[in-house]
Amino acid sequence: MTAQHHGKHVPRRMTDSPALAEYRRFFATALRNPTTVGAATPTSKAVARTVARFLPTTGSPTVVELGPGTGSLSDEIHTRLPATGRHVGIELNEDLVRHLRARLPGMESVHADARELRHTLTRLGVDSADAIVSSIPWSLLAADVQRDILDQCRRVLTPEGRFTALTCLPMQHSPAGKRFRTELHSTFAEVGTRIVWRNLPPLLHYACTGPLPERD
Ligand SMILES: C[S@@+](CC[C@H](N)C(=O)[O-])C[C@H]1O[C@@H](n2cnc3c(N)ncnc32)[C@H](O)[C@@H]1O
Repeated sequence: MTAQHHGKHVPRRMTDSPALAEYRRFFATALRNPTTVGAATPTSKAVARTVARFLPTTGSPTVVELGPGTGSLSDEIHTRLPATGRHVGIELNEDLVRHLRARLPGMESVHADARELRHTLTRLGVDSADAIVSSIPWSLLAADVQRDILDQCRRVLTPEGRFTALTCLPMQHSPAGKRFRTELHSTFAEVGTRIVWRNLPPLLHYACTGPLPERD
């Protein structure tokens, strides 16, 4: 397929809008890494707005994003964050980290595993986080990995800290999906849920507050 550009025929791909280019990048990464990406397309703007509404808007908050991917939530998070705030993205895929650094220079994009959350934040000189936004594929993680990452989130959050997680709605009935919900209830005093239908597939948005004291 071709399109007109300055009077010449150019391949359709060269005329992609930035949004379409993001889709292509996400989809290609998902094809190569299905279990770590865990979705075929980036989340919608509707989801990004829902997530951003839950974030602090005053002071100098630190917001940590686990699995920012191509940055579909990051724009909205960044817009919401006060100018003196800090936005740290921890992404497992190195190509995506390079992309994020170029696309969102205001976010500190780090190539790391969410399992190294505490170590990574210490390395960046971050003592605590006011909010954690996570869209890593929780429902595909083994029980001990889910628990380990959640435990680190609980430890790095301030007492007023907020935690959000996005999971595919159909996965809520899978064993790992149910286990994740149970783990959230053992980690936070309040666990709110909201379904965001304006995404393919619909997503379950967990909004949690009140990190509980350490478990024995
Ligand atoms: C479902 S995608 C979500 C991407 C983006 N936040 C969005 O909403 O469109 C999951 C992302 O988490 C990343 N990821 C998966 N496991 C991770 C881990 N253990 N640590 C950091 N990032 C991880 C993947 O590489 C991928 O970019």
